[in-house]
Amino acid sequence: MSEDTLIGNGTNEEAVRAREGGPLIDPDNPPFLLGDSMRGGYGAADILHDCTIAAEKGQITVIVGPNGAGKSTAMKAIFGMLDLRAGKVTIGGKDITPLSPQERVAEGMAFVPQTNNIFPSMTVEENLEMGAFLRRDDIGGTMEEVYELFPVLKEKRHQLAGELSGGQRQQVAVGRALMTRPTVLMLDEPTAGVSPIVMDELFDRIIEIARTGITILMVEQNARQALEIADMGYVLVQGRNRYTDTGARLLADPEVRRSFLGG
Ligand SMILES: Nc1ncnc2c1ncn2[C@@H]1O[C@H](COP(=O)(O)OP(=O)(O)OP(=O)(O)O)[C@@H](O)[C@H]1O
Ligand SMILES: [Mg+2]
Repeated sequence: MSEDTLIGNGTNEEAVRAREGGPLIDPDNPPFLLGDSMRGGYGAADILHDCTIAAEKGQITVIVGPNGAGKSTAMKAIFGMLDLRAGKVTIGGKDITPLSPQERVAEGMAFVPQTNNIFPSMTVEENLEMGAFLRRDDIGGTMEEVYELFPVLKEKRHQLAGELSGGQRQQVAVGRALMTRPTVLMLDEPTAGVSPIVMDELFDRIIEIARTGITILMVEQNARQALEIADMGYVLVQGRNRYTDTGARLLADPEVRRSFLGG
């Protein structure tokens, strides 16, 4: 997680640093997860305009930007919930653009959407079991790992998920996503509506998950705090890449600070 780690382990470091907008992608050495020049939307109008998002193995990549910038839409596009009019999505260099979300889960992706990300009328444990629905092997070990990461979920495993606090529900949502043993974990605003302390705790757990080698791609409203733990950050505006750089350099950029981080 060094500050110099760049997309695609590119050698063109200065170009990456200097470039405003999207990342530089080395086609000979593509990033582990890549949504490349994505264009698409919900109806006739495009929401994403040549939007490129990349994430490296074991790194935390954060997408920030104003409300309505297309952050969730970019996540949906990468997960296959949106038909692209142009562009492609690759994982480990493999083109998965034609695949359904369920098929992408089989390819190692897990997605925690911004809303409705748990089953409130099921217990915590049932939520975790639901997460593993594609697996045919023994899920006990993975469930134990989730409980080690989030001990409170073990305590409350027989409680209805809908009865938990906001932060605990987000833990259920993340835990459920981990049940498929993903290589890529995508989180849309995992800290929405939680207190600063709970946010910090959740970010610590996300760092822990990344350290196990899982690729994290996360949208965050708490932009400053998220960029502090980000290896790479993307600022999206109106469905376009506006800034791409390491989290540290985005945080240090006066223009990014003034326009997107509240000064
Ligand atoms: N299901 C949908 N149908 C039609 N338009 C949509 C739909 N979801 C989002 N949009 C529109 O697409 C644009 C981008 O929305 P999106 O939810 O991707 O933004 P966002 O950056 O995630 O915003 P927020 O920070 O509020 O979560 C907005 O103009 C929004 O109104
Ligand atoms: Mg959103």
